[in-house]
Amino acid sequence: MRTENINHGFLDGVLDGSREDVYYHFGVVSSDPVLDGLRGVRAVIMAGSGARIREFAERWSQLNGGSEIVAFPKEDRFVTRYTAGVLFASHGMGMPSASIAVQELMRLVFFLKCGDLDALDDVFWCRVGTSGGVGLPGGTVVVSSEGLMADLKPYRLLRGAAGQYWFDGRFPAETREAILAANAGVADLRLVSGKTVAGNEFFLEQFRLDGAVCFETPETKMVWLRWLNDHGVRNIEMEGAMFAGYLNHWGFPRFAMICCTLLNRLDGDQVTATAAELQKFSEDSGIALFNYLRANLPGG
Ligand code: URA
Repeated sequence: MRTENINHGFLDGVLDGSREDVYYHFGVVSSDPVLDGLRGVRAVIMAGSGARIREFAERWSQLNGGSEIVAFPKEDRFVTRYTAGVLFASHGMGMPSASIAVQELMRLVFFLKCGDLDALDDVFWCRVGTSGGVGLPGGTVVVSSEGLMADLKPYRLLRGAAGQYWFDGRFPAETREAILAANAGVADLRLVSGKTVAGNEFFLEQFRLDGAVCFETPETKMVWLRWLNDHGVRNIEMEGAMFAGYLNHWGFPRFAMICCTLLNRLDGDQVTATAAELQKFSEDSGIALFNYLRANLPGG
C-alpha cells in the first residue's frame, strides 16, 4: 500500500474512535454493529446494477455452502451484500457515481482492516460490468489491462486547488493473468484481455450517432473507433479509468475489471441483444469472476 496517499488526517481518527465515519451512500456508519461481521472481508466486487449484486451474492453463497448473506439496509443509491468473505456492492453508472461508491468502500475497508497495511494488501477488488466491444462481437468477456479516457490519456480530475489530478489507470498484470489462467479451457466462454476506454458519457463521449444530441458523423465516429482499435483498445465502458486510478493511488496490488461486450461498436451503436443473450453475457462475466475467486481467494 502507498500509505502516503491514504487520507490518514481523516481516517486515523475513525480508527482511534475520536470520530465516526458516515458511509452515507451505503447507509451505514463505522460504529454500526452490522460491520462487525465484515472484518474478514477478502474481496470487494462491484457492478453497476443492484440486481447483478443480488445475483452474484446468491451465487457466491451457494458456492460456499449456503453462507449467510448480510444486506445493508439502505438501497436507494447502492445495493450491498456480504457473504463468505466477499463484499458485493453496486456503483450505478459512470465515474461520478462509481467514484462515490469506490471512495466510501475504500474508507470502509480501511476501517474494517483497522488500517493494517498488510491486511489491506490482501483485499482483491473487481468491477464486473458491461461494455461496447471494439472489434469484438457481443458476448466477449474482456479483462482490462488499462483504463483510459476517450482521448487515450489517463483519468484525471480537473478542478482541484493544485490544478489537474492525474491517476494511473493500469490494472495489475499478475491479477489479470491469474483471471485468464483460472478460466483457461472453460467451454463456451470467449475471454480476451486488452485496453478499455472509460467514457464520461454513453452517447457523446462514446462517439454514438444515436443520442438525442449528436456531434459526430459516420466518418468521425469510425476514425475514433479505428484509432482505439489500432491502439489495442478492446472495449468501452464508463468506470474503469477511475476505478483503477483510485485503487492504484492507495497502492492496492490486486484488482481487475471484467466486462462483457454487449455489441461490436464497429458494427453499430444500439444495443439490440435479446434478453436471453444479455442474461448469458452477464452470466459469462460472472463465471470468469467466480472461477478466479475460487482459485485465488485465500481460504475461499
Ligand atoms: N456500456 C457502455 O458504456 N457502452 C456500451 O456500448 C455498452 C455498455
